[in-house]
Amino acid sequence: MRAAVLREYNSPLEIVDTMETVETGPGQVRVRIRVTGACHSDLSGMTGKLSAPAPFVPGHEGAGEILEVGEGVTSVAPGDHVIVSFMPACGSCAHCARDEGHLCMALMAGASRTPGFRLDGKPVFSFVGCGTFAEEVVLPYQSVVPVAKDVPFEIAALIGCGVTTGTGAVFNTAQVHEGSTVAIVGCGGVGIAAMMAAGLSGASQILAVDPSAAKRELVMGFGATATATPEEAEAVAAELTGGQGFDYTFEVVGRSSTVEAAYKLARRGGTVTVVGVGARDDNFQMSMGALAMQSKNVKGSVYGGADVPQQMRNLVSLWREGRLDLDAMITDRVQLEDVNKAFDLMKTGNGIRTVIEL
Ligand code: APR
Ligand code: ZN
Ligand code: ZN
Repeated sequence: MRAAVLREYNSPLEIVDTMETVETGPGQVRVRIRVTGACHSDLSGMTGKLSAPAPFVPGHEGAGEILEVGEGVTSVAPGDHVIVSFMPACGSCAHCARDEGHLCMALMAGASRTPGFRLDGKPVFSFVGCGTFAEEVVLPYQSVVPVAKDVPFEIAALIGCGVTTGTGAVFNTAQVHEGSTVAIVGCGGVGIAAMMAAGLSGASQILAVDPSAAKRELVMGFGATATATPEEAEAVAAELTGGQGFDYTFEVVGRSSTVEAAYKLARRGGTVTVVGVGARDDNFQMSMGALAMQSKNVKGSVYGGADVPQQMRNLVSLWREGRLDLDAMITDRVQLEDVNKAFDLMKTGNGIRTVIEL
């Protein structure tokens, strides 16, 4: 089958026709991926910024159809449409016992270090245990969330990572309340999803901060009430909030410098939610003179900070009700052979999400 493979960090993806997927074992499912989004974390894996053993098949924002289920699997059946979740909840670890399935690493840690594919007889890994840049993947049954057949695969794919991550940071981690003020630092797919959620939560002001002029124009259609370049942000914030800063700020880039920016933009007692995933050695410093005195709450948020399958079902409903414009987030569509174009587009910062059809 066809797949895109990263042989070495910082090289283009190569399309191969002879990739093999491992057999479907007990408790596993085989999925025919139909659409996958290109998320910034894939790029971070491809440059080695995020830890991912190479060679690997990137992709973790995918949706498709169940082809086969392994022994003991009763939650899905062949033909079902599913969204891929990259944080399958094992159901029995300490996190799962606390209802923190989105923090469960029991299955994911092993899956990202167990080859999911073979090429020319050699093992190939799958990015964060998913590898959705391949026509077929084998996953634990907990990694697939059934979705109704009338939901287009491209909408389902976006919910697979960026939309759940961005909206969940607002709904679950920060819990933005009506009438509050919000600043979003970084307006890619994840930042724009956060922005839409801030609008749905009734935020009275939403400042979008992004260096890309194209992005600053685009965000006005997703609920932003003001925009700023990173350089202008502090001055604009002071003007908009009477010098106080925002109730809630979100870092959606994945760098310590942008965490600092989001921290500065928050008001005393405000909440700073860090959504971006950065390099392991990129450290954010906080002043001991400020931490307690300013009482800003710095929170990390992974995969929307709550039960992943439940969030995905809620997001499908919001999309169905026309309250979440996921269609407008798709700015380009490419076929698998043009997968590198998706990352070229990401690097220009002009589009929001490119989806890859397989
Ligand atoms: N200040 C604000 N925005 C910035 C800055 C900056 N200094 N530098 C870059 N950006 C913007 C880019 O212009 C782009 O619009 O951040 C945005 C990043 O968007 P994408 O590349 O589409 O990334 P996305 O997929 O949204 O992911 C963002 O969230 O889940 C994590 O791992 C993911 O760390 C990544 C982050
Ligand atoms: Zn992602
Ligand atoms: Zn668990």
